[in-house]
Amino acid sequence: MQVIERNSDLRTVLGEVKKKGLRVGFVPTMGFLHEGHLSLVRAARQENDFVVVSIFVNPIQFGAGEDYQDYPRDLERDCKLASAEGCDLIFSPPVIEMYPPGYATFVEVENLTETLCGARRPGHFRGVTTVVAKLFNLVAPDQVYFGQKDAQQALVLKKMVTDLNMDLQFHILPTIREDDGLAMSSRNKYLSPRQRREAAVLYRSLQEAERLIQGGVRSAQDVKAAMVSLIAGAEEAEIDYVEIVQAANLLPLERLQGACLVALAVRFGKTRLIDNILLEV
Ligand code: PAF
Repeated sequence: MQVIERNSDLRTVLGEVKKKGLRVGFVPTMGFLHEGHLSLVRAARQENDFVVVSIFVNPIQFGAGEDYQDYPRDLERDCKLASAEGCDLIFSPPVIEMYPPGYATFVEVENLTETLCGARRPGHFRGVTTVVAKLFNLVAPDQVYFGQKDAQQALVLKKMVTDLNMDLQFHILPTIREDDGLAMSSRNKYLSPRQRREAAVLYRSLQEAERLIQGGVRSAQDVKAAMVSLIAGAEEAEIDYVEIVQAANLLPLERLQGACLVALAVRFGKTRLIDNILLEV
């Protein structure tokens, strides 16, 4: 497995790969890889001839006071994990390679970014779409892989791909969970033992939503109220949002119908966790 830091080296290697007609699968990440990422690498391995994983903690998707400086980083460990899954190339550019002095171009998807996490983290999705557009241009992948845990991110990026006529296949794979249901995330590392125990309430609240909806409840308000009261039982939990929206466009729902996304963001101390489930009503 090669580890490459420079755009020019990446282009040289991938130029050769493309010349051979190999199919390139790409998994963009911010590193500190966990089973969620590795499930994406495994899918990319199965469905492509050459697998690229990027590891780049993208400063422009973090707001002021967010965890850019503290975000966990361990390139050596990531390389071992990715290599064990059959990754062919890690691209881990320094910030200056992605955003040299004078950098001035940004990609923005409207509407889908104005709700849920977009409403609470101004500029976040503009940072995500910009870096992912750059990475797609650098890697020119045939297929790309993202996790359902970041449901809004996946939807926003899929829209970018469609709107900008990017020629690639977009895959969204299921959320991978710990034994108690907590969605895997690099940020779980920040949790104290008590916060970690309490954080299992997030998935329990999503399962409660599913149980209520399958039992016939159709009022979004009632389902959200039940989730909020469950989460409130965890002492350190502070709800950022609990929402039920239309899965295709993230517009709010009052009466539940069709494909629904039940999504939440909850803080445990300084750590903000997100999770969601998709339900067909
Ligand atoms: O999901 C992530 O880790 C990041 O938002 C991504 C897609 C790699 C862009 O920096």
